[in-house]
Amino acid sequence: MANTLWYNIAIFLLISSFLADNAVVVLDAFHHVPNKIKNQPYRTGYHFQPPKNWMNGPMVYKGIYHLFYQWNPNGAVMEVNDTVWGHATSTDLINWITHSPAIKPSRPSDINGCWSGSVTILPDGKPVILYTGNDRYNRQVQNLAKPKNLTDPYLRHWTKSPENPLVTPNAVNHINSTAFRDPTTAWIGRDGQWRITTGSQEGRRGLAILHTSRDFVRWKKSPKPLHYHDGTGMWECPDFFPVARSDSHGVDTTTFREKMIKHVLKVSLSDTYFDYYTIGTYDQVRDVYVPDNGFVQDKTAPRYDYGKFYASKTFYDSVNQRRILWGWVNESSPEKDNANKGWAGLQAIPRKVWLGESGKRLVQWPVKEIERLRTTQVKWGNKVLKGGGTVMEVHGVTASQADVEVFFKVSGLDLEKADVIEPGWTDPQMICSLKNASSGLGPFGLMVMASKNLEEYTSVYFRIFKVREDSKEHVVVMCSDQSRSSLEKGNDKTTYGAFVDISPYQTLSLRTLIDNSIVENFGGKGKACITSRVYPKLAVGERTHLFAFNKGSQNVDVLSLSAWSMKSSL
Ligand SMILES: *[C@@H]1O[C@H](CO)[C@@H](O)[C@H](O)[C@H]1NC(C)=O
Ligand SMILES: *[C@@H]1O[C@H](CO)[C@@H](O)[C@H](O)[C@H]1NC(C)=O
Ligand SMILES: *[C@@H]1O[C@H](CO)[C@@H](O)[C@H](O)[C@H]1NC(C)=O
Ligand SMILES: *[C@@H]1O[C@H](CO)[C@@H](O)[C@H](O)[C@H]1NC(C)=O
Ligand SMILES: *[C@@H]1O[C@H](CO)[C@@H](O)[C@H](O)[C@H]1NC(C)=O
Repeated sequence: MANTLWYNIAIFLLISSFLADNAVVVLDAFHHVPNKIKNQPYRTGYHFQPPKNWMNGPMVYKGIYHLFYQWNPNGAVMEVNDTVWGHATSTDLINWITHSPAIKPSRPSDINGCWSGSVTILPDGKPVILYTGNDRYNRQVQNLAKPKNLTDPYLRHWTKSPENPLVTPNAVNHINSTAFRDPTTAWIGRDGQWRITTGSQEGRRGLAILHTSRDFVRWKKSPKPLHYHDGTGMWECPDFFPVARSDSHGVDTTTFREKMIKHVLKVSLSDTYFDYYTIGTYDQVRDVYVPDNGFVQDKTAPRYDYGKFYASKTFYDSVNQRRILWGWVNESSPEKDNANKGWAGLQAIPRKVWLGESGKRLVQWPVKEIERLRTTQVKWGNKVLKGGGTVMEVHGVTASQADVEVFFKVSGLDLEKADVIEPGWTDPQMICSLKNASSGLGPFGLMVMASKNLEEYTSVYFRIFKVREDSKEHVVVMCSDQSRSSLEKGNDKTTYGAFVDISPYQTLSLRTLIDNSIVENFGGKGKACITSRVYPKLAVGERTHLFAFNKGSQNVDVLSLSAWSMKSSL
């Protein structure tokens, strides 16, 4: 599917020190959100969405965050040939100003679409963009663009290199011309040369092709790809970055203190539309990436998010020394509904991402800036959710736009009584989808985007199983069930599930960001994430309710629950 490429994102964090001096810059009022769109029930309040039409696609330069996203200026559907680099900036990752597109098709090397790519900040502090152009022969080629005016803090205008295209697929380099896209942020290898990796496909082999360059203009294909795996199909939007072994600080792309870091390779598989990552080592001598034991770069690899989340990218936020992950979230409604709404797709709340203590999983948490949108807080102290079917409403919060965090506790005695997991239950989504799964420990959790009488709700919950009858080891599953999310029939209501790598003898936490038609869940303090899209008919705006529930047979304690109403961002 050649037309899946544009969910891509270039991430770019440019931090601007001259913000203070330039506080009164007159911005293009390029994207005006028409009222008929502004007032729609499913339009989100605090997630980044383009003013209209279809989107998908980020940097920090001199204190200003830049989000570049794949955007179709002409409609709420994907039209590869029309794709431009939409551009928005922010000082806090939450409130965004949209500018006119940074890059539009105009040259033979990108006339059929300006597709995804990445930003690299050069050692002199200047950002450059590498992006895929769909050229006049419909070949995928790699192009370079530079800011026209570096004193403009918003970097509104970009100049394409006269040398474009810089890399062209051909018979000599054996690159597949319809499967060569989404170059990563460049890094410098031991030999002092730049490197980029680009997604590709040869037969059913997915690969991340490696190129090197001394000057960022002339690129040479390396004899070996950075990594590949057979049977996976096309690798879209590869992302390759270091993470610190011992703490949650972000690490810049060109950091090679080998004892201190691990590397992550993420690929977006166009076969499944999910983002999979492995953790491993970048062998600088052989110039290849080697996943750690237990990781395979295919659809058995862990996912950033077990719901809807694709074509994500990270960038290093040099201002706050963290690595930030941005993902694109598609609609779950039919295309005709998207056409009626006049827009489609949005960005998940940016997440800080780091290596968890186990060294085997990444952990994600909404950037702290989001907390500035919190207003009224509702708080529960200790409450028991009695076994056998308890549903308790959380009153006093704008349930259609909220940030909720709840800490559950199950008694050790009850944990010993948990059902044993069936031997074949290795797929959490399947476990969550089984309507007949017997009770015991759970399900307990939240019912969000719910109508007053529960004609509609989306339930987000935990279930706990024992590994074996005689064992004190447990498996915790987190589910997001959309099957009752809307009285409307046409939407995709797949139930999602993820294993959460925590011991239930400790507290089980769930954080849920609710925003009109999107629900983002973070289980176990960010060890497992599930994002879903819902379109209720009754549970709209003020008619939306929030409940905590326990449908298992044993009691579950809520140690605390906080729910905040959320303001809308700009
Ligand atoms: C648009 O792009 C597609 C796929 O790359 C190509 O087949 C088609 O010819 C292009 N259309 C035009 C009008 O250039
Ligand atoms: C560059 O940007 C600065 C700040 O916005 C502006 O004052 C200046 O006029 C711009 N220069 C050109 C050549 O456009
Ligand atoms: C080239 O990529 C296309 C996807 O665009 C794929 O269908 C095809 O099998 C690839 N061709 C070869 C020779 O690998
Ligand atoms: C996005 O959602 C639309 C329906 O709204 C669907 O047709 C399309 O296949 C989806 N694309 C991806 C990449 O998930
Ligand atoms: C539940 O249903 C699945 C198939 O949907 C079946 O394989 C399983 O045996 C059933 N379990 C019980 C306990 O009935």
